[in-house]
This record gives sequence, structure tokens and C-alpha cells, in this order.
Amino acid sequence: MCGREGWLVLVVGILVAGFAGGPKVKELGSAEKGDPVSGREIYVNVCSRCHGVDGKGVRGIRLVSPPADLTSADVQGRLDGALFKRIHEGKPNTPMGAWQHALSDEEIWDVVAYLRTLGAESDANP
Ligand code: HEC
Repeated sequence: MCGREGWLVLVVGILVAGFAGGPKVKELGSAEKGDPVSGREIYVNVCSRCHGVDGKGVRGIRLVSPPADLTSADVQGRLDGALFKRIHEGKPNTPMGAWQHALSDEEIWDVVAYLRTLGAESDANP
């Protein structure tokens, strides 16, 4: 029994070490999978009415909670998967809705890829 547990701990240890220490393992779905050009098209059509074409939020818009600044370090600091999930499932009790029925997974990845370009631009000219 004891020996068997030791073996298990070893295997788990190797797995953890592999993920933590090894070359950065690519997320299964990541923004690099998406196409920022088609993402931009989708973004302008469905997201820009709240978030603005530049991602900073439509000025003067009155929502219960103001749209997040998509160029901010706060949003750009999230993992691709977290942004995907937020767009896919929305943010409960805010005007940020779930897009899983309107957009395919592929389209959401395209949008995530486009969101990354907004971050890159704001870094270049803050
Ligand atoms: C009806 C207006 C509206 C539309 C349309 C909309 N959003 Fe949002 N979005 C919001 C608001 C409001 C928030 C801020 C929610 C909060 O944190 O209170 C938000 C937050 C976000 C966030 C940050 C969420 C977080 O975890 O803080 C992301 C990323 C985002 N939106 C992406 C998108 C994308 C991509 C689209 C298009 C597919 C989109 N939004 C469409 C209103 C909108």
C-alpha cells in the first residue's frame, strides 16, 4: 500500500514539475489559434457598441456597470482561456452577456486574438 502511494506521489510530482518548470506548455485553446482579422470584424459588429472600437468603452454610455476597458492591464493580464470563458459565458449580473449562442468557439477565439492586438497597441502608445 505504502509503496503504491509513493509511486503515485512520484508520478504526480513529475507531472507538476513538467508543467511548472518545463518549457511553457501551450494552452490547448489560445489566442494564437484565432484570427485577429476576422476577430476584428466580429468585434466591431457585436462588441464595439458597448466597448467602443478602440476597446476603451463607448464614452457617455450609461450601463449599470460601465464596460471594462479592454486595453487595460487588468483585462490584458488575464489568460486567453479566462477571456474566452468570460465572452463565452458572460459576467453574471452585468450587461456583459454570454456570447456562446451567438458566436462559435472559433469566432470567440478570433475575438480573443483581436483583443490581444488592442493591448499591444496601448502598450506602444499609452
Ligand atoms: C451590452 C453591452 C456589452 C456588449 C455588447 C459586450 N460587452 Fe463586454 N462588458 C460589458 C460590461 C458592462 C462589462 C463590465 C462588467 C463588469 O465587470 O461589471 C464588460 C466586460 C467585458 C470584459 C471583461 C470581463 C471581466 O472579467 O471583467 C471582456 C473581456 C469583455 N467585456 C469582452 C467583450 C466582447 C469580446 C464582446 C463582444 C463579443 C463584448 N464584451 C460585448 C458590456 C458589453
